[in-house]
Amino acid sequence: MTTELQILRMGDVRLYQVAKPVTDFNDQQLQDTLDMLIEFVRDKGYSGIAAPQIGISQRFVIYCVKPSARYPDAEPQPLTVLINPIITPLSDTQVLSYESCLSLPGLLGKVPRYQHIRVNAFDRHGQALEFTAQDRHAMVVQHEIDHLDGILYPARLKQSQDMGFIEEMLTQNC
Ligand code: NI
Repeated sequence: MTTELQILRMGDVRLYQVAKPVTDFNDQQLQDTLDMLIEFVRDKGYSGIAAPQIGISQRFVIYCVKPSARYPDAEPQPLTVLINPIITPLSDTQVLSYESCLSLPGLLGKVPRYQHIRVNAFDRHGQALEFTAQDRHAMVVQHEIDHLDGILYPARLKQSQDMGFIEEMLTQNC
């Protein structure tokens, strides 16, 4: 079975709002939405999605990390749900890495992100989570959590030419 979802694209005002914290972890609608998003991300092989991208202004995201052609050494992370997440950088070091986003189809950006972060959040049952993330894992988490604050990756670019269509970016930057 394939889940089809309408993903909001850059320019939709709902992508620029600060999402509200989840207060009721037992809410059936929340749990159903999480199931739907997990199935969607698995089916399509995506690396993550945040609630505001489907028009839900609440603070939850889903992500996973898989090694890719570009990042073959990325340490895999299983599909993870983060609710009301908070990030603390563990050093000032930032690294540039390639990011794409379901809300900016066909585009790719080279975006600075903290290399090493601590993440505090809740899982889907309301249990507190705390872990550290580095490199690709840290990048994916920062990208998804930015969505909760109404931030799309173009706002993070150091210079505008660090973003473009996938084909052009990969041809010129490899
Ligand atoms: Ni995104």
